[in-house]
Amino acid sequence: MPAYRAPRGTRDLLPADRVALARLERLAADLAARYGYHPIETPLFEQAAVFERGIGAVTDVVEKELFLLAPREEDGERWALRPEPTAGIVRAYVQHGMQTWPQPVKLTMTGQMFRYDRPQAGRYRSFWQFDVEAIGDPGPAVDAEIIELASRFYAATGLVDVTIYLNSIGDAACRPAYVAELAAFYREHVGELPALEKARLERAPLRLLDSKDARVVALNATAPKITERLCDACAAHFASVRAHLDAVGVRYVLNPYLVRGLDYYTRTAFEVYPAGDEGQQSALGGGGRYDGLVELLGGRPTPGIGFGLGLDRILLALDEQAAPPAAEPGPIAVVVGADPAATAERLRIATTLRAAGLVARAELGQRKLGKQLEAAARDRAHFAVIVGDELADGQVQVRDLEAGTQKLVAVDDLVRELERARTSHHHGQAQPS
Ligand code: HAM
Repeated sequence: MPAYRAPRGTRDLLPADRVALARLERLAADLAARYGYHPIETPLFEQAAVFERGIGAVTDVVEKELFLLAPREEDGERWALRPEPTAGIVRAYVQHGMQTWPQPVKLTMTGQMFRYDRPQAGRYRSFWQFDVEAIGDPGPAVDAEIIELASRFYAATGLVDVTIYLNSIGDAACRPAYVAELAAFYREHVGELPALEKARLERAPLRLLDSKDARVVALNATAPKITERLCDACAAHFASVRAHLDAVGVRYVLNPYLVRGLDYYTRTAFEVYPAGDEGQQSALGGGGRYDGLVELLGGRPTPGIGFGLGLDRILLALDEQAAPPAAEPGPIAVVVGADPAATAERLRIATTLRAAGLVARAELGQRKLGKQLEAAARDRAHFAVIVGDELADGQVQVRDLEAGTQKLVAVDDLVRELERARTSHHHGQAQPS
């Protein structure tokens, strides 16, 4: 048992996992750019108040899961690791006067978030999100555009069969009366509520709607539904979001019980689950509209909408789907040698290849040529450049490890030869056997 281990709820991403995550990061960045989102990077920590005010003090994320940093005397501030990106991005929007930029300001960020959650499968204390935010557009068309972007991202990852659940949770005009009606409904049935739900009833009655407890699920079937209590403006907005989704061919399932875990949401709310699995741990992503958040964090009243997609969970779902891992191409060449001690020559030739932009590995150990060639094949290198006696005449042997052929090539021609082979042989496109 090693003395030191990664903290509970975190994990090291070893190369295979890091490569898989990097693929999702690239997909996210490419797709977001295609839809006109610009990258932003905010600090991993903020004043705790940004999250307490933004996300809401009476939410699990703030109340139970916020990673507070031990304060240092000199700064008399309370800091917290970011549990999500939206509050920090909106803080940056206000701080940098982005309301004077052409609206909407469309921003994207992919990075690590921190929640002091109870660790379990798919629930980590440090996890990755792909986030987009469109700030300054009241919708409803942009709502549909964002949901379509999310659905395109899942498809691009290779995940088949995800379900998008959609709801409108109203706004300051219609939600308070609904919440009061809902709380009254639960109070009438308080005897049927388990302890946890009873405790939540007075503080956050909406949260009971997405309870997974069978008794509450049964009770909820008769509870008043927000979609039947929307004010005219929210109802018209919701109808139009749906019409726009239909226009772009995005399939979704209406779910009047969908409420989000963060307080800043208004109107459009959505979550994505693997088909057939709506367990609370498995949301692959979620988002919605937050028309009051900019003002809450000190800006002028400004609407906004965005999503956060959980990359760790997408990777787990891809594993479960047994999708073949994305194979990284091996090096174009491994430079090996008949004289195990001639490491300087091998290093020099590999250095020349790398300086020309080729991916090359040099065999710098002292093992025999046969072992070096075996390792080159294991690396899925396309060629072995064999440095031997011919070097005295300025030549090396180039063995095509896939075709099994070999020829003499002048060292001066090596870069050109490998470049040509790389394009004509489609290096890196074959799947490993
Ligand atoms: P969220 O629903 O709290 O929303 O998180 C979004 C996604 O992050 C979840 O659906 C899940 O896939 C992933 N996630 C959350 N917690 C964990 C965890 N402990 N371990 C692994 N994955 C996790 C937000 O964070 C909002 N900021 C989304 C948003 C952006 N709304 C508007 N703009």
